Amino acid sequence: MTSVIVNASKTYEIKIGTGLLHTIGTEVKKLERAQKICIVSESTVWPLYGETVSDSLEAEGFGVCTFLFPAGEESKNGKTFFDLVNFLAEHKLTRSDLIIALGGGVVGDLAGFAAASFLRGIRFIQVPTTLLAAVDSSVGGKTAIDLPAGKNLCGAFWQPSLVLCDTDVLHSLPSPIFRAGCAEVIKYGILYDPNLFSHLEENGLAFDLEAVIARCVELKRNVVMEDEFDTGARMKLNLGHTIGHGVEARSNFQLSHGEAVAIGIAIVCRASHCVDSDRILSLLEQFGLPITAAYPVEDIYAYTLSDKKRSGGIVKLIIPNAIGNCSIVPTKVSDLKSFIEAGL
Ligand code: GLY
Repeated sequence: MTSVIVNASKTYEIKIGTGLLHTIGTEVKKLERAQKICIVSESTVWPLYGETVSDSLEAEGFGVCTFLFPAGEESKNGKTFFDLVNFLAEHKLTRSDLIIALGGGVVGDLAGFAAASFLRGIRFIQVPTTLLAAVDSSVGGKTAIDLPAGKNLCGAFWQPSLVLCDTDVLHSLPSPIFRAGCAEVIKYGILYDPNLFSHLEENGLAFDLEAVIARCVELKRNVVMEDEFDTGARMKLNLGHTIGHGVEARSNFQLSHGEAVAIGIAIVCRASHCVDSDRILSLLEQFGLPITAAYPVEDIYAYTLSDKKRSGGIVKLIIPNAIGNCSIVPTKVSDLKSFIEAGL
């Protein structure tokens, strides 16, 4: 088991290793004061792991209630959010109780935002069941729901009290979901760590799961501790995301977030003539990720503009100069369309 400690507005531990799902009851016991736990999960994850988690909690004497919603990004909306907070109120959770987010990024974002808002904030635990959630969304306290105008437009920074990442769960992920998470793993290599990038090149999908997740989480932890509220260094984690979100929305979420990020990374590499473009594009392809978008530039541009990261007439793009060296480049909205076009 590997442990990474985050010292942000809240101090918490991220545990990565095998068999952790079964230990959740004893882990929650250590957090003190909680009596009632609401497990938030979705329709594909709950049948696989729900019983293990609730049995472990009940064995330690916790009262458990469960809020489930249909799997998919479409559920990360205001209706599900209000259904969830009403459910918490009906089940009389108090500020000393807690929420467990059992699932991927959608569950973590939605449950985290409910935790941030209900009673002006209650504790929550992230139990990521996808690689993407393990290396990115479960760490660092970004929580949100989508609005009709765009993805993640309504949310809060709210750190979890614990992250439990059971690698056994990730071994059994369907291949497209696992590969989508690899886009975020590759992102960390491009941003900060040439050794991680080389390890991925050498091992492909057979990379060392616990060690690689731990490295990504450590890299993200360092960024979150430097810039928890995303005003500087943390923006770099958006490599591939600004244009990727546009592509993802244009696909009507038929492309997964990870696939869209891979396309976003490929577009910025080509458009900025990154010296390591060939290696980056090859690695994305080696992991079975898409590197081109089949949409007109006008569409990608229009959807990219609805991304919340725009400020005035400027979008901050993250540009890879080389593997392990990326810059934040303020780009005029008026130049964005030709930039995207150059990268298609
Ligand atoms: N997913 C990017 C961040 O947490 O800042």
